[in-house]
Amino acid sequence: MTTGKRKRIGVLTSGGDAPGLNAVIRAVVKAASGRGFEVLGIEYGFEGLLGERTYRMLTNADVQGLLPRGGTMLRTTNKGHFGPRNAALSSEEDPYQLAVKSIHELDLSGLITIGGEGTQRIALELYKLGAPVVGVPKTIDNDLAGTDRTFGFDTALQVATDAIDRLHTTAASHNRVMVLEVMGRHTGWIALHSGLAGGTDAILIPEIPFNIEYVANRIREREQRGSTFSIIVVAEGARPMGGTEMYIADGRLGGIGHWIGDQMQKLTEKDTRVVVLGHLQRGGSPSPYDRLLSTRYGAAAVNAVAHGVFGEMVALRAEEIVTVPLAEACGHLKTVRPHSDLVLCARALGVTFGDEP
Ligand code: F6P
Repeated sequence: MTTGKRKRIGVLTSGGDAPGLNAVIRAVVKAASGRGFEVLGIEYGFEGLLGERTYRMLTNADVQGLLPRGGTMLRTTNKGHFGPRNAALSSEEDPYQLAVKSIHELDLSGLITIGGEGTQRIALELYKLGAPVVGVPKTIDNDLAGTDRTFGFDTALQVATDAIDRLHTTAASHNRVMVLEVMGRHTGWIALHSGLAGGTDAILIPEIPFNIEYVANRIREREQRGSTFSIIVVAEGARPMGGTEMYIADGRLGGIGHWIGDQMQKLTEKDTRVVVLGHLQRGGSPSPYDRLLSTRYGAAAVNAVAHGVFGEMVALRAEEIVTVPLAEACGHLKTVRPHSDLVLCARALGVTFGDEP
């Protein structure tokens, strides 16, 4: 199946997209060609390994100009056939066994799986079934365990911080309360970092349930001190004390920003507006930091394949790129510690998390 005697590496992108996916693909192709590997780009995530199989050969020419481009040239699939593994399925029915068969039939010496926790969980299952996988950590949410940083986060943070800056000027002009809902399904990294970087008055995150009355108190106190406008940043997965996350439909989070906006309007009697930033945080060109991180991850993943280091994920630890067992990245998320220095720093500056009167 291989052309000539060159060894072959597969690469795929899976789960929600994030700025930097293309930069990883580019780095994989360039680093692989430098080491004499050819690269097969598997399309639509792991789905590309099933049925008819969708893949294409990637050369240096194919990745020209790819570094600053958002999205993924290989396309991606969010869920697909790879739910929790059902060991009772036959080898003809089990998507995991079928994918491993494809990896062998395509003669891949290594498969680089770029994605978040869901992706790395699938990769780990494939590894247990004998596939030579190496993970690359991606998600704008920065909630993947085992690494200090996922690529995509920095760009999302930049978009969210820019939005807060813009909301400041319009909020001040109209003496309004502005609520910005940012992504962060289970963790508040984007809300916490952008709230600090943008100087919001409240930061509401899933890790610290809030009391809406306490948030309103803070807005009133600011008013009494002469600050006639306020900005609240809230992660989509945040919830009131004793309450649950809010969903729009089909298990998709949403609605918390508007709920907080309604409550603020009622409780503070201040004119309030709500902005839901949504997928603007995922689209577009990666920041220089994310381009660099993605490039380092891509080159390191090829290095791992070349050295036969499988069942691992490349990771950033104390500014160095290392590999960690895939199992470290799976089964739990990296959450914001309520007593971490970032949270304490925000509190020291008078930012409320809505958990104190
Ligand atoms: O995992 C990243 C993320 O951006 C979450 O914060 C968000 O809930 C989710 O993806 C939305 O993804 P989609 O709209 O693709 O289902």
